[in-house]
Amino acid sequence: MKILVINGPNLNMLGIRNPKVYGNGTYAELVGFIEEKAAGLGLRVKVFQSNSESEIVTEIQNAYGIFDGIVLNAAAYTHTSVAILDALEAVSIPTVEVHLSDIAKREDFRHHSFVSMYAFKTIKGLGFEGYARALEALVDYSAADSE
Ligand code: DQA
Repeated sequence: MKILVINGPNLNMLGIRNPKVYGNGTYAELVGFIEEKAAGLGLRVKVFQSNSESEIVTEIQNAYGIFDGIVLNAAAYTHTSVAILDALEAVSIPTVEVHLSDIAKREDFRHHSFVSMYAFKTIKGLGFEGYARALEALVDYSAADSE
């Protein structure tokens, strides 16, 4: 199974950015955590980060026919991007939405997620562990699908 993990804007600043909300772990540590978890589950994984909405849309489009699942933390674009929602619907790849923080307990503008309108599951508030749970959810989803 091939999984694409996409991280949106400012997630490359982990470790520096607002540690009370996002923790002390760096972006490089997050990538290492995801790669280790994926290897443990027997998954092939690509981890992609961009600060650009258009690059994220293009990455989702390019996943068509290549990846079996997407883990998406669209960061701030979660709350604004119809283009990312449309790209997910276009490629129709099973997707789990992840947020390091619990967006439901933060400012009102973070409560709405366009990504949630497509993702079959949303995991929030678990820090790095949320990505591990998302990979597991994609494995379970694929197993249920092939029953
Ligand atoms: C985030 C939550 C978003 O509201 C925020 O804009 C981010 C990160 C999270 O992982 O908790 O950049 O997606």
